[in-house]
Amino acid sequence: MNAPKRYLITSALPYANGLKHIGHLAGAYIPADIYVRYLRAQKRDVVFVCGSDEHGTAIPIQAMKEGTTAQAIIDKYHPIIEQNFKDLGVSFDIYHRTSSPLHHETAREFFTALNEKGDLEIKESEQYFDEETKTFLADRFIKGTCPNCGSDNAFGDQCEKCGKSLSPDELINPVSTLSGAKPVKKGTSHWYLPLNRHEDFLRKWILEEHKEDWRPTVVGQCKSWIDGGLMPRAVTRDLDWGIKVPGSDSKVLYVWFDAPIGYISATKQWAADKGKDWKPYWYSEDTKLVHFIGKDNIVFHCIIFPVMLKLNGNILPENVPANEFMNLEGDKMSTSRGWSIEMDDYINDWIKKENGGESLADVLRYYLTQIAPETKDSEFTWKGFQDANNSELVSIFGNFINRTFVLMHKLCAGKVPKFHNDIADDIDKKLMEDIKTASVKVTALLEEYKFRDAMFEVIDLARKGNQYMQKKEPWILVKTLNENPDNQKLIDNSLHLCLQLTANLAILINPFLPFTAKKMLYMMKVVEKMLDWENAGKLNLLSVGYNLRAPELLFRKIEDTEVEEQIAKLKAKSEALKAESKTLNVESVEPLALSVKPEIVFDDFAKIDLRVGTILTAEKVAKADKLLKLTVDLGFETRTIVSGIAFHFNPEDIIGKQVTVVINLAPRKMRGIESNGMILMAEDKSGKLHFVNPDNKVDDGSSVA
Ligand code: 2FM
Ligand code: ZN
Repeated sequence: MNAPKRYLITSALPYANGLKHIGHLAGAYIPADIYVRYLRAQKRDVVFVCGSDEHGTAIPIQAMKEGTTAQAIIDKYHPIIEQNFKDLGVSFDIYHRTSSPLHHETAREFFTALNEKGDLEIKESEQYFDEETKTFLADRFIKGTCPNCGSDNAFGDQCEKCGKSLSPDELINPVSTLSGAKPVKKGTSHWYLPLNRHEDFLRKWILEEHKEDWRPTVVGQCKSWIDGGLMPRAVTRDLDWGIKVPGSDSKVLYVWFDAPIGYISATKQWAADKGKDWKPYWYSEDTKLVHFIGKDNIVFHCIIFPVMLKLNGNILPENVPANEFMNLEGDKMSTSRGWSIEMDDYINDWIKKENGGESLADVLRYYLTQIAPETKDSEFTWKGFQDANNSELVSIFGNFINRTFVLMHKLCAGKVPKFHNDIADDIDKKLMEDIKTASVKVTALLEEYKFRDAMFEVIDLARKGNQYMQKKEPWILVKTLNENPDNQKLIDNSLHLCLQLTANLAILINPFLPFTAKKMLYMMKVVEKMLDWENAGKLNLLSVGYNLRAPELLFRKIEDTEVEEQIAKLKAKSEALKAESKTLNVESVEPLALSVKPEIVFDDFAKIDLRVGTILTAEKVAKADKLLKLTVDLGFETRTIVSGIAFHFNPEDIIGKQVTVVINLAPRKMRGIESNGMILMAEDKSGKLHFVNPDNKVDDGSSVA
């Protein structure tokens, strides 16, 4: 495209269903923020939008876990996440919400526009339905056995254990997570976006036009989607949480249909707040739209949303620089498994703990950019974090600035010294050249979204500053001033150049480490305008004779004990969650399971034969984490009963316990063992199970009524 007139930069809207971890931060937010800060320094017209994704099943599922409503969940997490981003210097122009009326209206209008033009299709299909709760089951509300790895906990869209993408039909023994019932198939109709009609467009646009300038990982994923055959995608769901489909009471827009439209509604809100026109940002060909995302969002931003945008007459993204994943200390990052560092925890543990803690926001930004998973998955380790800080930020960048300021105060009376051109030597000239080259290189790399390499160039320039100072040794020259008064000129030259380099470093580091750049401005007593990108490479940024402040340390050393504490904390958190998921049967804490069942008559109840029995033996069932095989003495006979209580009790602890048994339940085979009856259990609010037994020992076989 020709030089863009304006830029619209988006970062994936995070689900407001919980705290977000630093893997998210590294993927879609820090890189976008670097790019935007660079564009702003270039004085380009840029708007950076983001906000909470507040629909989809992720929200009601979290509400069930926390025993509250979906609305309460989004109202709780939206402001926390918004503040976390602020504390880490992510400078959105707006952090909007998809629950806002403006977004609902925008998404509904978008849907209607496509529907009225005949761009959507209505299709009938059979879907799983829970007869107890009378609801169609979204993929996440169905669990069963994974056909790939045999895990009993696979969801209708994915097995969390082996990671395989699934459809609900593939699950073996599907059950509803709402009620535990076996779901039945029922007919329903939905609107579909017929992606198959757009294959030619997508092939040309991505695989030809953007084959060179998009990241190979992104083009590669798009190619396999397109080659795999594009199918119509349902854009509505039978759910009650979401944006109502125009003209329907029971259906909502699929979250992935409404969420990216969130970028548009956020732009509208931003423009309204600023008294600007939002339309050129979405309709004008001279706008450059760039989506920053993680790799799990590629198909939505490169295939589905672009088709929607094209049909609606909007501009298409110029680039979608998706990042791969960031692992943590040798394992996949995951909040639900406790193997993660939440932004909120980092902020509390590092930034808020000390005065001037913002510099620790920059340390995180630095390390996450240094190990950014731009081309392949990468790994965060606390040791790596400590090394990046101690050996680069402290020893190279911070050290150079500090030495420059200390020496300038000591040897040049706290003022910017003069540069004596007549005695400039090759070492000076080389440094001047390096400053210019670095700013050209950093600019080119930022334009290509190569943030890691760009930041490396900035640090490398600071390294060159240290080497220069080492060669010039003004602290030695000062000792011979009496014999060689002309040495002052050499001292002046070296510190003049080091100060001009400092100013350049502030400009170049600003997109990456904004808090540090700000502190440097303060030390140099200059205004923010100096950070304008057009100043990069200039050697007259600080005027001769200008008084500068005393130095402040930009970064502090991070001690071994600090990172050891973090590693211990991470391990403890994940162990605690593991233990919790063993004692808690997650499905059973869902409030719907607590709902009152319909009334029955006495005769229905009288059909159930309940007896007291004593557990004689108990053992684990092979390959079934949840099950215990029990033999129960009922007085008149001994029965084998298989019970799903293995997460709650150790077999040896329950031998000899009296329990209540339903003895006339039809026999059922579980893992090849015939179970003849069912043990009654009471489930408390936390999901923990307790036996239901007489308060005193009674004869086995006694009836319960
Ligand atoms: O994967 C996610 O976290 C989604 N909430 C991202 C949505 S991006 C955009 F489309 F809104
Ligand atoms: Zn699996």
